[in-house]
Amino acid sequence: MNPEVPTVELVGVSLTYAGPPVVAALHDVDLRLRRNEYVAVVGPSGSGKSTLLNILGLLDRPTGGTFRLSGIDVSTLPEADRAALRGERIGFVFQSFHLLEHRTAVENLLVATLYRPTKVGRADRVARAEQVLTRVGMRERMYARPAQLSGGERQRVAIARALMNAPDLLLCDEPTGNLDSVNAAKVLALIDEVHQAGQTVVVITHDPVVAARAERRIAITDGSVTESG
Ligand SMILES: Nc1ncnc2c1ncn2[C@@H]1O[C@H](COP(=O)(O)OP(=O)(O)OP(=O)(O)O)[C@@H](O)[C@H]1O
Ligand SMILES: [Mg+2]
Repeated sequence: MNPEVPTVELVGVSLTYAGPPVVAALHDVDLRLRRNEYVAVVGPSGSGKSTLLNILGLLDRPTGGTFRLSGIDVSTLPEADRAALRGERIGFVFQSFHLLEHRTAVENLLVATLYRPTKVGRADRVARAEQVLTRVGMRERMYARPAQLSGGERQRVAIARALMNAPDLLLCDEPTGNLDSVNAAKVLALIDEVHQAGQTVVVITHDPVVAARAERRIAITDGSVTESG
């Protein structure tokens, strides 16, 4: 992939929820993220952070403006194409992990491969899952289920799942929000490693300590984006 092409390019992006009541959640957002940038998004509750993440993750479509993901204009793509791109190019990490409780860590990673258009054999997918879990420090526990894991370990499994398809963009919504400080530090160290390995990373956070890890901080207030240094 051409490193000159930004991973994310939003031009005049707006999202208005039809309601009722009508909510202008984002307005006229311009944002460009270079490949391999590490960006924190901060702002008060209700300011539009998750809305922005949902747009970047192709879960929501802007109601105005243009979004190019790695050079592809995704604002006008049919839903099926957006879903395929989402599976291939986007990894999500959520505050509450969103793991399947009754499945092992390996099985949770296999879920990430179900929606891919190209089918890879199960043995190869399991090998890939084991490799990624080893990378996040979960080699010893990869056949454990979430209930048998600590919060920090669950989040490492969730990060591994997000990395399973080697996405262009890793999107994290309050990734340390449910963790104590020790586990939070481990998860942040892992996100740093992911960034150093070449990934573009966006982290939404309320926590100034988390925001300080990123190279760049973006603030959202009432649906408008400002660079906050
Ligand atoms: N599906 C929806 N339908 C209508 N309004 C919505 C919807 N989702 C979010 N909103 C509204 O859009 C605005 C932005 O919400 P968003 O979830 O992006 O905030 P946030 O910055 O992530 O907040 P928090 O820090 O509490 O997670 C809020 O006013 C919210 O009430
Ligand atoms: Mg939110």
